[in-house]
Amino acid sequence: MRLFAKNKSSINGQAICPGDKSISQRAIIIGALANQDISISGFLKGEDPLSTLSALNQIGADISMTNNIVNISKREMPFYNPSNSIDLGNSGTGMRLMMGLIAGTSLKAKLIGDESLMKRPMSRVSIPLNAMGANVSNLKGLPPIEIKPGVIRDNFAYDMPIASAQVKSSILLAGVASNKKVSIFEPSITRDHTEIMLKHFGLNIKSEKETDGKRITFIPGNKFLVEDYDVVGDFSSAAFLIIAGLVASDSKISIKNVGLNPTRSGLIDILIKMGGNIKIKNKNILSGELVGDIFVESSELKGVDIRGGVIANIIDEIPILSIAAACAEGTTRISDAHELRVKESDRLEAISGGLTKLKVKHELFEDGISIDGGIPENNKVIEIDSYGDHRIAMSFLISSLKVKNGVSVDNCKNIYTSYPNFVETMNDLGLPINEQ
Ligand code: S3P
Repeated sequence: MRLFAKNKSSINGQAICPGDKSISQRAIIIGALANQDISISGFLKGEDPLSTLSALNQIGADISMTNNIVNISKREMPFYNPSNSIDLGNSGTGMRLMMGLIAGTSLKAKLIGDESLMKRPMSRVSIPLNAMGANVSNLKGLPPIEIKPGVIRDNFAYDMPIASAQVKSSILLAGVASNKKVSIFEPSITRDHTEIMLKHFGLNIKSEKETDGKRITFIPGNKFLVEDYDVVGDFSSAAFLIIAGLVASDSKISIKNVGLNPTRSGLIDILIKMGGNIKIKNKNILSGELVGDIFVESSELKGVDIRGGVIANIIDEIPILSIAAACAEGTTRISDAHELRVKESDRLEAISGGLTKLKVKHELFEDGISIDGGIPENNKVIEIDSYGDHRIAMSFLISSLKVKNGVSVDNCKNIYTSYPNFVETMNDLGLPINEQ
């Protein structure tokens, strides 16, 4: 699918933030594990959460959707072996978290995914799961993943070599599913939705900050005290609108119901440091997560230096942050972001490819990129390949706000994995995007 975004100098209006992808996936996995009747509102009906939902039903969960509510029904039976391979589509979170759940429940299953997911590293999850007593195999560290019943041991402790919320969550879920104590150390702070949700549902989770990271421990013994769950909006999706509002001229937009968990919202501080006019109002707590409304006005941005622990916090926002950097005055340098190379695409290459087409001066490094602000005037439509990566596609569509003849982005179908209403929302705000 090829999308064309026209140039429009200004955008205005109000948008509702779509449900959080990470939280939607965790809500159905943890809800199914709790094995109680539970209804979930605000669930993201994107392809990633939906493939995780089918995966759970394949192992015996009873999850259905009426209108916009997801209903999880209490089962009579424990989870069972799926009769076919489980296809997680484009979802790294779906695959890695399901590995933990399936290994912890000692099932036999084969996990596959789309072309992009089949190239993503899985040893980061299978190594600790196997050390925990699971039986997970993956050839050369890549899917397909074959899981056979194992015996999960008690008191497993793991120091993660990389800061990954997916790895942390997978190990925690294996501990919860097998009812065994487990403790994980993360070298820098990653999103903590799994810990918040498990605690919210009554389980005993301890989170202790240490000098260079955080230790998270699950201690068995408590029963799930399940209640209905509300998924907050996805900060990573809101990021596209925030940056669109900042870089467009004479613009004023508001985004309602945005998840503001501090392990996710580091981009706000960075954008404010860049000179962004951003206000947060109506803060509230919904199902244990901080939420609020964001107000943005056009701003003159300037370049910044971004490195270290904050990278894990903004990892999914770096593609759109690169567009802010391209529109800013001066240089923005992003370092310590090697993880971008193993996302839905090699995002550093993909960002660099798009910036080259826009003729934005930049330098690519193994672990980051440095971008000299300024998109020169072009006399033709700029054609960009998203490499099938939803966040790259949305980022470069937004860049059309600064490209006279508009931007045409190929391979956009995966926008449906995380932000199914993106095109509609941008059109409502005044940036025309259509299929070509
Ligand atoms: C996610 C964690 C991050 C993020 C991904 C979603 C999650 O990945 O990039 O989009 O839901 O836990 P890593 O944990 O691999 O850094």
